[in-house]
Amino acid sequence: MARHQKLPILDETGYVVLDSYQEPIDPSEWKNLEYVDWKSSGDTRFAPLASAYGAIECNGFWHFDPPKSDKDGVWIPSQTSVAPTLVERVRAIGSNVGRCRIIELQPNSYADALYNSHLDDNNRLNPDGEGWVLRCFMQLTHNPDSVMVLREDIDDPSTETRISLPAGAQLVVDSERMWHSVWHVGSEPRYCLITSVESSTALEKWVWDNNPTTRVESSILDQGDAVRGENAAQERRAARTAFYGYDPTSVMSEA
Ligand SMILES: [Fe+2]
Repeated sequence: MARHQKLPILDETGYVVLDSYQEPIDPSEWKNLEYVDWKSSGDTRFAPLASAYGAIECNGFWHFDPPKSDKDGVWIPSQTSVAPTLVERVRAIGSNVGRCRIIELQPNSYADALYNSHLDDNNRLNPDGEGWVLRCFMQLTHNPDSVMVLREDIDDPSTETRISLPAGAQLVVDSERMWHSVWHVGSEPRYCLITSVESSTALEKWVWDNNPTTRVESSILDQGDAVRGENAAQERRAARTAFYGYDPTSVMSEA
């Protein structure tokens, strides 16, 4: 059976951290977009730049008629005209793009982040032999004390990596393999450009052009805080599982 084409550089850790994007971007490019309420990993809203068929919505592409995989996203003119630099930044990758949107995330706790951690449903309907769909995260606001929390196993804290999110931070994550969420500290929301991008030679070249690191040192986390956060999150996760009769995060997230 033909398998999906994957990027070998992601084999080991499931993520790659790239050099930071250095060009200034006017915050109006994310602040003046139209946002829709869409729950993912906590208290969030999203502003789509590309959607299944060009409407301002965030649904998985498989919901539509005809359904499609998370590729060939349709740019939304009323949004892309507000965010030309962001669109150019995504297009510069040169690979097929599916969902492309800005997330707005309100401040939360480490326990919240673990509670909300999930896997993305990036490859539904993606034909064998085509490129595996990954997520590219491009941090917009400067939140160096906030972190992307990645885990290979949600129940095993030893598999965790915490990646700092200063403005311009860029990561490519196999978010269908890696549990992920963001622990955002501070008083203002965090904004990040999130794009579904197909594995391809173009993506591979772009990654290598941006000085990839496959294993980064986790941001420091006090051991006591880690244990308290872990216990609180696992208790809440267990209560949620009991409530639903199954773990809703075992069903891959549409967001
Ligand atoms: Fe996700």
